[in-house]
Amino acid sequence: MSTNPGGGTRLDPWFGSYAGRTHGLRVSETRALFAVASRPEVVSLAGGMPFLDALPMDLIAKVTADLLATQGDVALQYGNGQGHPLLRGHIVEVMAAEAIQAHPDDVVVTTGSQQALDLVTRVFVDPGDVILAEAPSYVGALSVFKSYQAWVEHVPMDDDGLIPEALRQTVARLTGEGRRIKFLYTCPTFHNPAGVTLPVDRRAEVLDICQREGILLVEDNPYGMLGFDGQITPAIRSMDEDGVIYLGSFSKTLAPGYRTGWAAAPHAVREKLVLASEAAILCPSHASQLSIAAYLEHCDWRGQIEAYRGVYRERCQTMLASLKEFMPECSWTTPQGGFYTWVTVPEGVNTKTMLPRATTALVAYVSGTAFYADDQGSRQMRLSFCYPTSERIREGVRRLSGVLAKEIELAALFGQTAASGAAPSHGSAADVTNPAPDVA
Ligand SMILES: Cc1ncc(COP(=O)(O)O)c(C=O)c1O
Repeated sequence: MSTNPGGGTRLDPWFGSYAGRTHGLRVSETRALFAVASRPEVVSLAGGMPFLDALPMDLIAKVTADLLATQGDVALQYGNGQGHPLLRGHIVEVMAAEAIQAHPDDVVVTTGSQQALDLVTRVFVDPGDVILAEAPSYVGALSVFKSYQAWVEHVPMDDDGLIPEALRQTVARLTGEGRRIKFLYTCPTFHNPAGVTLPVDRRAEVLDICQREGILLVEDNPYGMLGFDGQITPAIRSMDEDGVIYLGSFSKTLAPGYRTGWAAAPHAVREKLVLASEAAILCPSHASQLSIAAYLEHCDWRGQIEAYRGVYRERCQTMLASLKEFMPECSWTTPQGGFYTWVTVPEGVNTKTMLPRATTALVAYVSGTAFYADDQGSRQMRLSFCYPTSERIREGVRRLSGVLAKEIELAALFGQTAASGAAPSHGSAADVTNPAPDVA
């Protein structure tokens, strides 16, 4: 059909018509593997899906039915671009638990915090602008950044999260090179994928660096309420309301199916976010917003989050104990909350090339390479403990240890097992992989 002047696939007659910003986008090769991973015989340690069985489903069904019976004409109607005032009021209460003082006017309700990430990037980033992001960073954020043709500059972390001195040096280098840094993207609490948490004193230091350098800070915090001991670390936004955009979500503390998150932003930024959101989606789902508002009003949401915490605490303990039992040659982070631990495998093993062999052995994980915009991460993997039962987690780690043992053997015989899967270098078209929704 096409003369195919661009030399791309002959199956797509529009190949030459796509906008430049799509050139770096491609489907992750791991999507195909995760289609396999969702088979029941595979233990998936890959997904970031909450364990919805812990929800009071009957109660949720009842408040939703009552909502539709009494206010169906409102719930199923269009709403306003900023989000329903009732839910924005509840969001302010939720944020107060993290020491954030905000007004409902500061809040923009979004279609998951993923859309908030998209809006913030759309509003601030021109092609080539720099976004600072932790090394590693949430894969879904990296996809957004790349789709706006940002240059992602990773800043190293340790077991206490982002390293302030490394941030200072990175900023100094980039400003010395005359680069435009648009914002620092950070997930300071129960980090995805690293599982670590930035202590309060480091929060203050990171904020201080950003304030001195005039860098906006984007705080992504979907896991903050899911600390195993119930302790909540004050959000960075609680220390500064003018220099921080805070992103929250009901996906991990309640349910991702509502697709409801939010941004709390300084006044002028909030105006821009609302306009950008209206252009993209007109308004967030009224039905979801009002269902969540009814749930927060009528159900014991704090108790329900406590139930989630208990489940994840136990599963995390099983994950760490299983790693100790079956994979002592590796190292890993020790999360105090959230969904993930970050595992480093012995030298010579490549987690990306190992993945097909792991799924063949009926266990799945996400390779560390997914969480970098450059060529790092091939010795790391993210293991999630949120969804499978403790029994399945132990079995999954046991299976993984068998795969790993063979890789170590191969590496000893032939050297680095990476040969077939060297990670792409920074900025190349190949380095943007869109995660499948269930592995985000
Ligand atoms: C760090 C982080 N940010 C944002 C998101 C997006 O969440 P949602 O769009 O479901 O609110 C996720 C989902 O896994 C995440 O882990």
